[in-house]
Formats: sequence, structure tokens, C-alpha cells
Amino acid sequence: MKTMTSSLQQIMASTGNGLDYDKEQELKTFDDTKAGVKGLVDSGIQSVPKFFVASSEETCNEKSDLRHTHFNVPIIDLRDIDKDGARCEIVKEIGIASSTWGFFQVVNHDIPQDITDEVIESIRRFNEQPNHVKEKFYSRDKMKKVRFNSNFDLYKARFANWRDTLSCLMAPNPPPPEEYPEACREILLKFSKYVTKLGQDLFKLLSEALGLNSNHLTNMGCADGHVFYCHYYPACPERNLTLGHTKHRDPDFLTILLQNQIGGLQVLHDNHWVNIPPVEGALVVNVGELLQVISNDKFKAAEHRVLANCAGPRLSVACFFTTHFEPSEKLFSPIEELLSDDSPPLYRGTTVKGYIDFFASAGLPAYSSLTRLRL
Ligand code: OGA
Ligand code: NI
Repeated sequence: MKTMTSSLQQIMASTGNGLDYDKEQELKTFDDTKAGVKGLVDSGIQSVPKFFVASSEETCNEKSDLRHTHFNVPIIDLRDIDKDGARCEIVKEIGIASSTWGFFQVVNHDIPQDITDEVIESIRRFNEQPNHVKEKFYSRDKMKKVRFNSNFDLYKARFANWRDTLSCLMAPNPPPPEEYPEACREILLKFSKYVTKLGQDLFKLLSEALGLNSNHLTNMGCADGHVFYCHYYPACPERNLTLGHTKHRDPDFLTILLQNQIGGLQVLHDNHWVNIPPVEGALVVNVGELLQVISNDKFKAAEHRVLANCAGPRLSVACFFTTHFEPSEKLFSPIEELLSDDSPPLYRGTTVKGYIDFFASAGLPAYSSLTRLRL
């Protein structure tokens, strides 16, 4: 404990414009505490250490203009998904949302509120337990099916984010249940079942919105795997200096995101940062880059970010539909049925693992992996 306190003092001392600033060393000291951003906050830090400080261009809100009140991420009601007329309408809304925003929220999605509430509580529990329990999960080994760390790209990113993350592979080939942290094991396994079903439903609706057979995207394997990224964003003493999550696009097929009531998530739309406010009972859904590739740009993966907040903690669980843990050579390229003389293929094919490896090889904000595949 003594060592941790002195490490933290060292990090705190770097919040000024110290001349002896050695970023690499500071990052390592921070990483070695295995206590994440929450550890810094618990130690009583009143300012943001230098390696978290982003350029003003990165944090600025200039692109968001509150007068644009017509800018609202669509909220889509899935209640009557099984009734023909209503389904047609839902498919239309999902198609428009996915091609213009790349983001929408869904309500009446059949995942009970007590389940989502308990998921959020379990992630709070995991993060708020004593460090000696949590640190056993702390790792930077990408092959680990369950791991906890602060900033997956800590040593590569231009600046660190005010966030700690627990990631858990849920399917396919999940680890034995004992490998998940006890604080959230049972509820994450339960949530995973619900999310699998919702994911399958959404891929059906998305297939229909592309004018394809309902099962097209699931037959391609888009719903075959998912990973939970469970984020903990502590309250930040100098929220304007850093971000909770640097702007990025998700390198998966689709993301379903559960967030608590703190807020801070934004999507870049028409060159404006637009808030995606927490809506009671709603889940956020967004198109990932791999879906943009296979839909040949019919659907768009939009840039998004999370602001740091003076209130907290903000909690979220991002469910990424991806199969990058599987060593598969299967190539994903634009769907034949969507191609024509007027709509030639825009991307070369990629494996899921190859795609995510390229994404992870750089720190955020990343050069878009999509650009690399452009024909
Ligand atoms: C992500 C992400 C947003 C959030 O995990 O890719 O964008 O609200 N998360 O935590
Ligand atoms: Ni994201």
C-alpha cells in the first residue's frame, strides 16, 4: 500500500507543468498501480495528471451547437416487431437511422429492467471492491478472455482517457464461468443470453432494411460472437481537460450499449457532436465498421466519444458483436446482393481478427481502419 501511495504521489506531482516530465515512466507508474483511474480518484487527486490532458481540439464542443434541437438520435420502439404492419415501419426506421446516424436507441426490447439495473450495479460492485481483489484481473494480454485495465491503448494513445474497463468474452467459446469476476459473473451470463436474442433480432431487422432475406446477416456469422466492454468512468476533477473515451468508430459488426443515468456519450452527426442522452429503459445501438464494409456503405459507422463528467461514476456496458477471438480465415467483403453497376464494391475483404488487430495496433484517435480497406 505504501508503494502505491508513493506512486500516486509521483503521478499527482506531474499535474503541473513539471520540467522533468517523463511520459513513458508516468504511464508505467500508473499502470503498475493496477488501480486504474479510480485508484487516482480514491487517492484524493484534485487535478488531472498530464498524460490524461487532451488537446483543446480533441475536447472542444465547438462542433456541437445546442440550437440544433432537431438533432436527436432516433428512438425506435420494438414492441410490435412481430406484427406485419408495425414491423415494416420498424425496418424502415432502422434503415434510415443506420444509414444516416449509424446510431439509434431501442425501447421495449424485451430485456427486463431489473436485469439491466443489476448489470450496472454489478459493474459498480466490481470496480468498487478492494483493489487486491480487482488487481488479479489487471492485464494487457489481448488473448485473455477476461481482463481488467485502464485504457487498452495506454502506451500508444495521444492522451489517456478517464476510464477503467473490464472486458469479458461471452461467445463463442467463453471461458469457464469461474474466470469471470464473482461480483458480476451471474448477471453477465444472464445478460449475455438476452443480448444474444436482441442481437439476432436486430440483425434480422437490419437484413430486411438492406432488402435482404431476414437471416442474411446472421447466416454470414455477424451474431456468432460477442464481447462485453464494461466501462467505469469516475467523476473527473477537471472535466474539460480530458475525455472519458476518445472519438472512435467501433471495429465490430454492431454494438448494443447499456448506460447509466450520468450521460456524456456523443455522436458526430453532420459535423455536430450530438448528445445521446440516457433514456429510461433504452439501449443504444450503433453500426460497427465491419457492418459498414459488408453493407458497402449503405450503413454508416459513426464517430462517437464520451465526455468526462464532474458527476459520476458513469457506467456502461458495450456489447460488441465480433468474433475476433476465433482464429478464422473467413473474409468479410461487401455483400454480393448489394452490388450492381451503379454500386460497385467499395472495400476489399477482411478477416474479423485482421480488422481488430489493425485497429488495436494504433492508439486512439486511430487512423480509420476503413480507409485502409477502401478500393
Ligand atoms: C465503446 C464505447 C461508449 C460508452 O466501448 O466503444 O463507445 O458509453 N463506449 O461507454
Ligand atoms: Ni464505441
